[in-house]
Amino acid sequence: MRHIKKPIELELEQFEKHFRSSMKSHVPLLDKIMYYIIRRKGKRVRPMFVFLSAKICGEIGESTFTAASLIELLHTATLVHDDVVDDSQKRRGFFSVNALWKNKIAVLVGDFFLSKGLLLAIDNDEFKLLKIVSTAVKEIIEGELMQMEKARRLDITEDVYFTIIRQKTASLIASACAAGASSTTTDASLVNQMHQIGETIGIAFQIKDDLLDYSTNDTGKPRAIDIKEKKLTLPLIYTLQNVSTSDKRRIMSTVKNHNTDKKRVGEVIAKVAEAGGLAYAEDAMHRYRDKAIDLLSEMPENEATVALRELIGFVTSRSK
Ligand code: IPE
Ligand code: IPE
Ligand code: MG
Ligand code: MG
Repeated sequence: MRHIKKPIELELEQFEKHFRSSMKSHVPLLDKIMYYIIRRKGKRVRPMFVFLSAKICGEIGESTFTAASLIELLHTATLVHDDVVDDSQKRRGFFSVNALWKNKIAVLVGDFFLSKGLLLAIDNDEFKLLKIVSTAVKEIIEGELMQMEKARRLDITEDVYFTIIRQKTASLIASACAAGASSTTTDASLVNQMHQIGETIGIAFQIKDDLLDYSTNDTGKPRAIDIKEKKLTLPLIYTLQNVSTSDKRRIMSTVKNHNTDKKRVGEVIAKVAEAGGLAYAEDAMHRYRDKAIDLLSEMPENEATVALRELIGFVTSRSK
């Protein structure tokens, strides 16, 4: 990770200050929660996507910082809301905002970050940036809603799974890459290509996240929460299509009615591994990784391109 950050080391350092000041509020409670979130920072991959994409296409400037802060603000807002939606008590190795301050406050905190992000773009006259990210915001919400609908009916197919992850996760990473590029070049074809690369990375990113839900790693998030929330992700979708009818019936019954029973859930996890569901999802993830690297070869080649290639590798091999 250290040498991936190398070409943008100073920028990432500078970013932390920029990001912190973009979250400020005069409401004491909001400021306290902001401080809490800042202290438990995530991997910061989205700002890295912004800066590297910017550097591939030109010279990093003030607009790039605005883009990076805006994207991370939106990411933060969606995580705060997502933990309410998923009823998740853990994030980044500690209590989620809803675990500490309850859902009512978490909803408003997420909205606050969203509005801060939008204002950040407006205050800097970054209308192109606003256009790039607003589509993502809309898609994230559509993706999360579609996922909830599918969780209720438990009838998700592989096609729908890919639509959901493209919307809920890949759209923001695509925006990060496009916004970075757009901050340093006016060449629309470069911006579009970066968007495409980001979307492809984002799909691989979410498949990895879904795989990590099955792992015993300490990811800083609750394990097997997807089963608990009746989210059928790629490893399980594949498994359901490739086991006997009786196994399928038992898995469905666990997901529907026994999703908090440790033993029953453990049985499903073992079945998914045995049926090749994890290997299948890994294969799919690697295909998207390779496609992203392929698309990247059409971009200008410099030290940022090398680092982005490595970041794509990190995304698909990370342990949290
Ligand atoms: C988590 O994203 C949400 C998903 C889209 C899977 P990250 O794994 O980038 O979260 P942090 O910011 O590093 O905590
Ligand atoms: C959420 O996907 C993606 C978002 C839009 C935030 P997950 O629900 O799998 O993300 P985590 O695992 O909670 O980070
Ligand atoms: Mg979640
Ligand atoms: Mg997850």
